[in-house]
Amino acid sequence: MPHRTGQPLHRRCRGLALLTAGAAATAALLGTAPASAAGPAPAPAATPTLAAPDIPVANVKAHLSQLQSIASSNGGNRAHGRAGYRASLDYVKGKLDAAGFTTTVQQFTAGGATGYNLVADWPGGDAGHVIFSGSHLDSVGAGPGINDNGSGSAAILEVALAVAREGYKPDKHLRFAWWGAEELGMLGSRHYVSTLPSAERSKIESYLNFDMVGSPNPGYFVYDDDARLEKVFKDFYASKNIPTEIETEGDGRSDHAPFKNAGIRVGGLFSGADYIKTAAQAQKWGGTSGRAFDACYHRSCDTSANINEAALNNNSDAIASAVWSLSGGSTNPPDGKSFENADNVQIPDAGPAVESPVTVTGIPGNAPTALKVAVDIKHTWRGDLTIALVGPSGRTFGLKSASGNDSADNVIDTFTVDASSETANGTWKLRVQDTGAQDTGYIDSWKLTF
Ligand code: TRP
Ligand code: ZN
Repeated sequence: MPHRTGQPLHRRCRGLALLTAGAAATAALLGTAPASAAGPAPAPAATPTLAAPDIPVANVKAHLSQLQSIASSNGGNRAHGRAGYRASLDYVKGKLDAAGFTTTVQQFTAGGATGYNLVADWPGGDAGHVIFSGSHLDSVGAGPGINDNGSGSAAILEVALAVAREGYKPDKHLRFAWWGAEELGMLGSRHYVSTLPSAERSKIESYLNFDMVGSPNPGYFVYDDDARLEKVFKDFYASKNIPTEIETEGDGRSDHAPFKNAGIRVGGLFSGADYIKTAAQAQKWGGTSGRAFDACYHRSCDTSANINEAALNNNSDAIASAVWSLSGGSTNPPDGKSFENADNVQIPDAGPAVESPVTVTGIPGNAPTALKVAVDIKHTWRGDLTIALVGPSGRTFGLKSASGNDSADNVIDTFTVDASSETANGTWKLRVQDTGAQDTGYIDSWKLTF
């Protein structure tokens, strides 16, 4: 079945000659070449701010096949009060414990059976600002619940494991939860929120919900409950050229509802349940119009075959991107002063370097040791690009070298530069050179924060 992957169709391999030419151009651009050249010595390269890693979809699928086996060996489901639910929880908990999370199993009683929520805290970060991601882990009784909601459960599990793999040290505190008994009316998440002391409730800065993120005939729906959280996801999809729509298939039909009702900011993603994909939606996302986003919703056929891998992959990456970007900033709005140039500057294909200036005024003394350089360059092959910051004295700070085989789109990143050797005031420039033929782009905007 055709589906959108967001990948342009003109990718091709790069030869060694281009790489060599790229390396030479890098040296020239950064002023690292002849030692006899006049002017200040090159400054040390910048360290990019931690960006979210790519979440390997193969790992997410491996979790789904474990959940499928658990259902198959426990009467075909993972429903509340059934052995398949507890086995699912034990699987997820085992992975998190081994990765260094602090896990808690919270019990509740519903419909005459014991239910369980699993809560996992990543040690560290500001406990007063919790970025909380959750998914329901239970299925309906009718089937194994692999899209609903093995998909969200597996995606946030793999994002949590990526946090551990990366040794990520977020500024804010990260918490993840797998809810029980959602299919009986969000009973697990309601229990969690209603028993949470109000002092704890107010520490939750954002709750992100992921219920059905791998639908076989997918749409890309973003919750619109909170404008800032909505934007975090929309920006991610925009960077992948994937159109989104607002989630409207039943507001409050999942575990974000109890959080929202308690006054907590909520957001989330959804790839569609039993609503029918329209022709316009099939046009933008691929798939089949006139057919449900998930024709196996709440049925026995919601198996590991009932997953669209591209949607699962994109949504897993979107979750990581949100978790990283929401937790990595300072806990307060940045108090630094920013200077931006938002005029577009075309970058000629395999041509000379171009520059975009920013004039800084009113900052006494030198620039900081951690000057933030936020770069937004749209380009169809970012490996072509060499990027440097040029200080008022003409000193260059390398931000990124060309690497011909990096075929990803765009450079949307914030670099931290030790610019303490420069006076703050004056004209700073972003210098960008395209060192490889064919792919093109432009500087969309860039910003210095002191
Ligand atoms: N688990 C939800 C349910 O079974 C799935 C769902 C339907 C949903 N519509 C939604 C989840 C809208 C989020 C948003 O009802
Ligand atoms: Zn459901």
